[in-house]
Amino acid sequence: MSAPLLEAVGLTKSFGEGEARVDVLHDVTLRIERSELIALVGASGSGKSTLLNLLGLLDRPSAGTLRLDGRDTEQLDEEARTELRSERLGFVFQAHHLVPALTVVENVMMPAAVRAGGFDEAARARALALLASVGLEGQGDRWPRQLSGGMAQRVAVARALMNAPPLVLADEPTGNLDTQSSDQVFALLLREQAERSTALVVVTHDPTLASRCARVVRLVDGRIVADGPPDQVLLDTRARRV
Ligand SMILES: Nc1ncnc2c1ncn2[C@@H]1O[C@H](COP(=O)(O)OP(=O)(O)O)[C@@H](O)[C@H]1O
Ligand SMILES: [Mg+2]
Repeated sequence: MSAPLLEAVGLTKSFGEGEARVDVLHDVTLRIERSELIALVGASGSGKSTLLNLLGLLDRPSAGTLRLDGRDTEQLDEEARTELRSERLGFVFQAHHLVPALTVVENVMMPAAVRAGGFDEAARARALALLASVGLEGQGDRWPRQLSGGMAQRVAVARALMNAPPLVLADEPTGNLDTQSSDQVFALLLREQAERSTALVVVTHDPTLASRCARVVRLVDGRIVADGPPDQVLLDTRARRV
């Protein structure tokens, strides 16, 4: 059997020192297989973003190990981690973080441009195709400020897919959107996940959205307290926000 896409064992994370120390994650063990669709749920402050930042190599755990594609990421220096991140991971955040001085298509090309050291035609063609797939055909030469929130977030999804990463991490990607745009962006993330066979970990507060994911992981106070199919994990919280 091949190694899982990502394997986190015993992750802990603390911020600060001495009396100011806050222990945010405790002994988090999580295995993510290729093509898996996972919703990460939990109350505000339960450690979801902290965990996603560790899984995305944006931060390092205080203890524990994290293997991506069988490689122990703690053994890598920052340069190697950055390279691995740009090759293997795509990110979507709550705010779209599009670069205002770049056109829409250039924003989508950014992950490839960073790796190649500049914009090239092949990347542009791929970025335009991605824009078409997120319903933004013909919008590549517009500027981010000309887009609605929902459109900008769809651009952010296209950008996350630019380097064809096997794992996409989305931290409340629909948190800033109205219900209709939120449904659209979520459906898009799920469709792209299925069509491209990427693994997707999506943080959401919305139980209806979470219930569309095959696997739901719930954090309470920095610990995984449930990990399973949505009908099992979401059962007792349907009525309230997760
Ligand atoms: N850089 C930091 N320094 C100190 N505390 C932090 C830092 N980042 C997060 N925390 C704390 O960790 C806890 C979990 O935060 P977070 O991961 O953002 O939760 P969630 O995304 O589930 O809302 C919160 O209590 C937060 O205040
Ligand atoms: Mg958060």
